[in-house]
Amino acid sequence: MMDPIAEIRDAAGLEELYPVLARNRYTAGWNKKSRSLWPEPASGFAARHWHYDEARAALAQAGRWIGTDLAERRNLLMFNPVGDNEYDTVNTLVAAYQMIKPGEYARAHRHTPNALRLVLEAGEGLFTVVNGVKLPMLEGDVLLTPGRAWHSHFNEGESEAYWIDILDVPLVHRLEPMFFEEYEGGTQPVESTPAAHPFWFRKADTEEALRQVKPMAPGVRRHTLESQGSIATMALNWMAMEPGASTGLRRSTASRIFAATEGEGRFEAEGRVFDWKAGDVFAAPIWTRYEITAGCDARLFEVSDEPVLRALGFYFDAENLP
Ligand SMILES: [Fe+2]
Repeated sequence: MMDPIAEIRDAAGLEELYPVLARNRYTAGWNKKSRSLWPEPASGFAARHWHYDEARAALAQAGRWIGTDLAERRNLLMFNPVGDNEYDTVNTLVAAYQMIKPGEYARAHRHTPNALRLVLEAGEGLFTVVNGVKLPMLEGDVLLTPGRAWHSHFNEGESEAYWIDILDVPLVHRLEPMFFEEYEGGTQPVESTPAAHPFWFRKADTEEALRQVKPMAPGVRRHTLESQGSIATMALNWMAMEPGASTGLRRSTASRIFAATEGEGRFEAEGRVFDWKAGDVFAAPIWTRYEITAGCDARLFEVSDEPVLRALGFYFDAENLP
């Protein structure tokens, strides 16, 4: 091995200097392959739309072959095709459709990523257990499983249950504080079955809150769930939209995932048009210019990484430009 300083001094020109620098793990700032600063967010993630009828059919079909031993993994991740990504929906969040068959128990585990579930189809007998607390999963309900909480799900009903999972796993991948642990024995004991819980946002309560909130735009009401005390990385909002109502053009440094639970409408983003209906998911990554319109009375659930951007001083939008 030559002495790096001798090699550097021997270089007859920059072209001879670069390989010496690279061998010693330096990049010449004036000669790097890609830029490190740019005028505004330039994400590779794009606006996308996923169809519940496709995912539902695929999960029902896969259910013939993916058995109860893999029940907790019988899900379909909605990925954004950026490079070799097969997981992330947007830069910080992932959404997945999940199905659990009657009689199935998904084993308990815990992890640092935060998770929540939006129930699409469920009969009586579908439950989540979080840290020993047993909570019913009814259609339109949102249930939180904050990071490090033991959680499992089971279906004691008669029909297949479908829900949407949203997690901040991609954010954890980027920051790298990943911890994961299986529950010994697989099933956590049930210690209580409360009628209300801070991890459980019932559809009936959401509807009441939406009725009382002032519209943010004509025909658009938005209710923020009080989830920040449990999950700090995600903001959870329900939107009620009347027929023909529009959010207006929006754009921010938060990445957003929307799930429709009722109605149908249109999602226009950066010149692309997506027609959504109940059960569908669509995503507006960071700095996407988008507008949502409802074709009929609609309900949309929105999850964003806005609290992360705000906490770090990186939240900007049309009213609050840097
Ligand atoms: Fe989990």
